[in-house]
Order: sequence, then C-alpha cells, then structure tokens
Amino acid sequence: MPTSKLTDTITPKILIPEVKIHARLAELGAEIAHDYRGKEITAICVLKGSFVFYSDLIRKIDLPMTCEFLGVSSYGNRMVSSGEVKVTLDINEPLEGRNVIVFEDIVDTGLTLNYITNLIRARQPASLKTCSLLNKPGSHKVPVHLDYTGFEIGNEFVVGYGVDYSGKFRGLPYIGYIEHGH
Ligand code: IMP
Repeated sequence: MPTSKLTDTITPKILIPEVKIHARLAELGAEIAHDYRGKEITAICVLKGSFVFYSDLIRKIDLPMTCEFLGVSSYGNRMVSSGEVKVTLDINEPLEGRNVIVFEDIVDTGLTLNYITNLIRARQPASLKTCSLLNKPGSHKVPVHLDYTGFEIGNEFVVGYGVDYSGKFRGLPYIGYIEHGH
C-alpha cells in the first residue's frame, strides 16, 4: 500500500496530552528566562518538526530575542533515522557573539542534533545551548548534550504537535504514538 494511503488508516494514540505539554512549556520558558536574565538570545527553530513547539515556547520566554530558522531533513521517509542530514534552509544572519539556543523536536540517535551543533559552533556564537521537546535516551548512538528537555520518552515512534510521519499528523494538538506494525 502506498504510504499516503497507509497513514490515512492510522489513528495515533495519546502519549502526552495537550495540557501536559503546555504546563511543561511554561516551566521551560521560565527556566530559560531565568538562566539568560539580562541577555538577549538568538532562538533557532529547527524545521520542520519544531515549528509548533517553538512558536508556543518562545511566547513563554520573557527575554529579548531574535528568531532564526534552520531547515534540515534526514534522507528518506523511513521510521529509522539515517543520520545523514541535509540543510534545506540555512541561516543567513551571522551568529558570531550571539547567545544561541537551538530548539529541536526530538533527539533520537542524536546524530541530527550533533550535526546542527557542529554547524552552529563553527559560526562562533558567544554561547550555545540545546533544547528538545522530546528525548529518547535509550536510542542515542552518539553522546548527546541537552540543556533543556521537555519530556523523556521510550523508543516509541511519535507524531503530532509539529512532528510527522511521512509528512502527516503535524497538526495534532497532542503527542501521539504509532504502534509498531504500521
Ligand atoms: P536523530 O538524528 O536520530 O536524533 O533524529 C532526529 C530527527 O528524526 C528528529 O528531529 C525527527 O525529525 C526524526 N524523528 C526521530 N524520532 C522520531 C519519531 O518518533 N517520530 C517522528 N520523527 C522522528
């Protein structure tokens, strides 16, 4: 069956309901604002999966900020990360001397976040921190450093709240999971 038809037959189950996400974002926003008090941040949204998380979270961070968008895509549409990352939209503004925070949707193997932090570090920011809505600590293949984490989860394949499966489900207001076998 083509993937587009297959996704039509799937109803994700709720893993993290909307209210829990928003309560956690309020905590994260307060923590980040506290840590950077008196400073200006450059908040980088990693597209596409982080766009919902990012837009909700930045409104909870009471700091002066500039917003930048970095588009990356893993090769292929498979449920397993290939670790090969392609930059589809680069940041044109200089990051030198900026206090940069990268906002990711999910850290799975850690390969994507590693690639992104290396890319940004080469642009010589004053500081660089990482924030991910979801972390799958049991799936890391490389050492990962996360400064801010929304939720730690198991190795389930999740969708919703910006996160997709084969381009679908980004509009769900909750984090859902898809059972193995699909
Ligand atoms: P990593 O390079 O293996 O850490 O994978 C990170 C990227 O893979 C995330 O930014 C997602 O785009 C994607 N990914 C990892 N796990 C999932 C999942 O459970 N659902 C949807 N996308 C995922």
